[in-house]
Amino acid sequence: MNIGYLYAKALKKLRGKCILNSHIDKSAIVFSGSDVIDSSVGKYTYIGYDCHIDKADIGSFCSLSDHIFIGGAEHPMQWVSTSPVFQKVKGVTERGSGASIKLANHEVEVFKRTTIGNDVWIGHAAVIRTGITIGHGAVIGSGAVVTKDVPPYAIVGGIPAQIIRYRFDEQTIDRLIRSQWWELPLDTLKTCAKHITDPIRFLEELGID
Ligand SMILES: CC(C)(COP(=O)(O)OP(=O)(O)OC[C@H]1O[C@@H](n2cnc3c(N)ncnc32)[C@H](O)[C@@H]1OP(=O)(O)O)[C@@H](O)C(=O)NCCC(=O)NCCS
Repeated sequence: MNIGYLYAKALKKLRGKCILNSHIDKSAIVFSGSDVIDSSVGKYTYIGYDCHIDKADIGSFCSLSDHIFIGGAEHPMQWVSTSPVFQKVKGVTERGSGASIKLANHEVEVFKRTTIGNDVWIGHAAVIRTGITIGHGAVIGSGAVVTKDVPPYAIVGGIPAQIIRYRFDEQTIDRLIRSQWWELPLDTLKTCAKHITDPIRFLEELGID
């Protein structure tokens, strides 16, 4: 393997990650350069390089690519100014809010919680607006800006994100949601995993009509 590649890769990893007030399952992976703040991350989920995740609850078995932005703050647009120098942002320090001086202290709620279901795949550089709910099994295309809730097993893309299609037919989606396979004990999952390429066979194995 090329020594230059290994050196650059090691430097990339050495940057570390910033995890604050968050519960990350011990089986989950957060790659370097990513921030995870006031969030929870479920089993076997991975979060790629240079992501920013703020006030989000992320399920299990999710695959998050690099440069994803979830749940950024929103500023009050109905005021004279949107600048944080006029705001008191709940739970955020002055510097943390981006204000080097304070000209007023009007309280503002800039965050809502964002919910990402289980088995969600989020493509490169997607942006998910604060307060959005993404259903189980959904796929968010690379570069999407998600401004509305995404139904389970929908594939969405674009700006603003629109539904491209669904991963499966309605009945299969309903069965997968009812199966809640992501909650199964590892031993059961290991047995069913031989059918992971065939949703119908997988659901039969679990006895889900
Ligand atoms: C969203 C995605 C999963 C769709 O895959 P697909 O179903 O095979 O899509 P198709 O290539 O059949 O395209 C279907 C339509 O969606 C559009 N489309 C596909 N990806 C899109 C995207 N990211 N944003 C907007 N539109 C997209 C296509 O242009 C096509 O439109 P048309 O029907 O008008 O021609 C895929 O394009 C994608 O973005 N994957 C993420 C890849 C990534 O980020 N990988 C990082 C490593 S995890």
